[in-house]
Amino acid sequence: MNITELVETAEALVAEGKGILAMDESTGTIKKRFDSVGVECTEENRRDYRSMLLTTPGLGEHISGAIMYDETLRQSSRDGIPLAKIAQDAGIIPGIKVDTGAKPLAGCEGEKVTEGLDGLRERLHEYVELGARFAKWRAVITIGEGLPSKTCIDANAHALARYAALCQEAGIVPIVEPEVLMDGSHDIDECYEVTEAAQRALFEQLYVHGVLLEGTILKPSMVISGSECAERAAVEDVAEATLQCLLNAVPASLAGVVFLSGGQSDVEATHHLSTMNRLVEHTPWPLSFSYGRALQQAALSVWGADPAKNWEEAQRILAHRARMNGLAAMGQYETRMEE
Ligand code: 13P
Repeated sequence: MNITELVETAEALVAEGKGILAMDESTGTIKKRFDSVGVECTEENRRDYRSMLLTTPGLGEHISGAIMYDETLRQSSRDGIPLAKIAQDAGIIPGIKVDTGAKPLAGCEGEKVTEGLDGLRERLHEYVELGARFAKWRAVITIGEGLPSKTCIDANAHALARYAALCQEAGIVPIVEPEVLMDGSHDIDECYEVTEAAQRALFEQLYVHGVLLEGTILKPSMVISGSECAERAAVEDVAEATLQCLLNAVPASLAGVVFLSGGQSDVEATHHLSTMNRLVEHTPWPLSFSYGRALQQAALSVWGADPAKNWEEAQRILAHRARMNGLAAMGQYETRMEE
C-alpha cells in the first residue's frame, strides 16, 4: 500500500466545494429507477444514461468522484471511449461499488448483513487495472420494534472493516457506509441512538483491523425522523443532531465525511448539508455529499421522458444540482438559488 497516494486520493475526493456522484445502482436498482420513468432496462440504455451523466459539461467543477457499478466500469460510450476515461478526463476520480448486496442475516429476523468479501482481493486488483481509485461498501441497519440488534450492528461493522483493510492493501480508498434506513415511524432521537451505536461499532472494528483513517471516508446517513414519523424534525434539528453524533463517534483523523441522501428530496438533502456546514466554523473533517437519488432524480425524469431529445436538458439539471451541493459543502447554499 502506498500511504501517500491513499491519503491524496481521499483528500481529493473531499476537496473544498466538491462531492461524489453515486451512480453505482446495481442492475436491479437501476431497473426500478428506469421503470419509474418508463425506460426499458437494457445494457444499451444503462450505458447511454450513464454516458449522459458523465459527459455533463463542467461536472468536474463540483464532482470529485463517481461511484460506478461493475458493468459501468467495463462499458464504453457510443463513440468507444471507456466511461472511466470520460470521468478521468473530466477531473472525476472513478470509484467502484464492491459489495454484492445486503442479504438476510441468519438468526436475526428483519435484518441484513452485506456480502462480498469472498474473492474481493482479486476483484480489487482488477478494478485498479480498470482505473478505480476508491470503493464503496454499503451496510444497512433497520430501525424497528426491538431493532437493530447488536448482532446486526457488529456483523456489518466487522464486514466493513475487512473490506476497508483489503481496499487499502490494494491502494484503493474505502468509503465505509453504515446506512441507518429512514424507513419507519421512529423519531429523530431513536435515529440518533442507532446511528451513534453503528458509527462507534464501525470505528472500533476499523481500529481492530488496522485501517488507516487518513485514507478512509465515511458515508453516513443523516440523523433524521423516520419517513412515517408523525412529527418531522426541522432542518436545523437534523443538522445539529447529525453533527453532534459525528463529533461523538468519529475520530478526527478520518479524511472526510460524505452523506448519502437515503430518500430525502434533492432540495432537502442540499439544505441539510449546507445548514450543517454553516453551524460550525471548523469540523475535524470536511462534510460533503455522495448522493445518488438526490443528484440524479430530476435529471433522470427529464432524460427518461425522451432520452434522445432531452440529453442536454438533463445534463443542465444535473449540473445545477451538483453546483447547489458544491455550495452546500461550503455552507453557502440558499434555497432561493433553486429558481
Ligand atoms: P442515495 O443518495 O440515493 O441514498 O444513494 C447513495 C448511495 O450510494 C447508497 O448506497
